[in-house]
Amino acid sequence: MIHIILSFAMNLQVKVSIYNYQLYRHIEAPGWKLSWSWKGDEVIWYIGGAEATEQGDCSRIRAATLPHTCEKKPVIIDLMPGALYNKQVANCCRGGVLTSTTQDSSNYLSAFQMNVGGISIDINKTDELMPANFSIGVPGYTCSDPFQVDPTRFLQPGTRRYIQAFRTWNVSCTYSQFRASPSPTCCVLLSAFYNENIVPCPLCSCGCRDLPGTKCVSQDETPPLLELPHSDLEAPTPMVRCSRHMCPIRVHWHIKRVKITVTNLNFAKNYSDWNLVVQHPNMKSVTQVFSFNYVPLDQYGHINESGVFFGIQSFNDLLLQSGETGNVQTEMLLHKDAGIFTFREGWGFPRKISFNGDECVMPPPDEYPRLPNGGLRFKSRPWMGFFSSLLLVLMI
Ligand SMILES: *[C@@H]1O[C@H](CO)[C@@H](O)[C@H](O)[C@H]1NC(C)=O
Ligand SMILES: *[C@@H]1O[C@H](CO)[C@@H](O)[C@H](O)[C@H]1NC(C)=O
Ligand SMILES: *[C@@H]1O[C@H](CO)[C@@H](O)[C@H](O)[C@H]1NC(C)=O
Ligand SMILES: *[C@@H]1O[C@H](CO)[C@@H](O)[C@H](O)[C@H]1NC(C)=O
Ligand SMILES: *[C@@H]1O[C@H](CO)[C@@H](O)[C@H](O)[C@H]1NC(C)=O
Repeated sequence: MIHIILSFAMNLQVKVSIYNYQLYRHIEAPGWKLSWSWKGDEVIWYIGGAEATEQGDCSRIRAATLPHTCEKKPVIIDLMPGALYNKQVANCCRGGVLTSTTQDSSNYLSAFQMNVGGISIDINKTDELMPANFSIGVPGYTCSDPFQVDPTRFLQPGTRRYIQAFRTWNVSCTYSQFRASPSPTCCVLLSAFYNENIVPCPLCSCGCRDLPGTKCVSQDETPPLLELPHSDLEAPTPMVRCSRHMCPIRVHWHIKRVKITVTNLNFAKNYSDWNLVVQHPNMKSVTQVFSFNYVPLDQYGHINESGVFFGIQSFNDLLLQSGETGNVQTEMLLHKDAGIFTFREGWGFPRKISFNGDECVMPPPDEYPRLPNGGLRFKSRPWMGFFSSLLLVLMI
């Protein structure tokens, strides 16, 4: 969930904080675009740490300096990193990007300040003043009506004293994958050292190549070299490599040591701060992960047998657009757990994978790579011994 906290001071200075409390879903570029509808004739005189996209029609205001925005439905965006020092406030200026709490516990908050004014404003009636129809301008999110909560307390800079807001309001925004995109955006490919057959992403996981109107870049076609034109404020339209699944993201899970490869098949997008959530019966047995960060999610109680993988800063936290370099890879070691230990049951394969918080399409379980001859059973001790040592070798 995303919480927007608006703290009003007596002089109608408002501090707005946007918190991303989601464990593994971040707000990526082009970032949040906060909007609401004023109920009356309010204007925003000044904003620090953010800006309104439009000034709008301020002709009704008779003042030497015009307001920052007079829009009835202002759209506020974050400033970019490196904004002028006198325009910054604490926790601003990250281009609207909010990390998930597991990935980076310092950048999951964005904040800005504004001075609101207008005709006939009475701070004693904040419920009348409080705007409606909040939106964070990111596909998939819907926001609640504002509700009043306990006034926020702020540590006064340079002191040990707290000052208190006059009124504080809370807006909660929730995400729905289906609302964000009616079709999935990611699929999973499975393979294993003991079976030559690769189990591909299910046909039409994210779309069907043969449907009229479907656009994609085929193998023999040169991918568009130029960045496809789009406004800085809009996410680019995907332009994917043609495939049977038509997903912009493909995750390949290979068993020997477990090897995961995430491939970007979208020519129009780099995924910054990507993450992968894996639900797997042996997630608690992860002993070592190479070239990715890994955080088990079991400590959060409600998510069973799951962990989140994400890139290492400045090494592979950016998943580049489709092409030779458009993939990231890890290998990991799971230590053996006798209870679940059987290749036959698809040991080692995940139950569920999500990329950037959106669930990937998995092959059906009956297609999972099988051991030759329909599988070997651990009937007698010698077999057990054989498999334990095989696994130990594989895990080295
Ligand atoms: C909020 O949206 C609803 C439905 O679109 C509309 O009826 C209402 O007037 C809007 N509120 C404001 C303050 O604009
Ligand atoms: C707001 O309320 C306070 C006391 O509750 C009162 O002193 C003040 O005059 C009120 N302000 C307005 C604009 O009505
Ligand atoms: C805002 O509302 C959410 C959801 O109802 C709640 O979990 C959160 O604690 C609230 N935040 C504040 C500062 O009251
Ligand atoms: C992706 O990042 C690379 C390297 O920073 C850049 O050259 C390329 O234009 C970016 N592509 C898109 C689609 O933004
Ligand atoms: C995780 O799932 C297993 C089996 O489904 C169950 O026994 C266990 O209690 C679950 N743990 C948590 C923390 O929910």
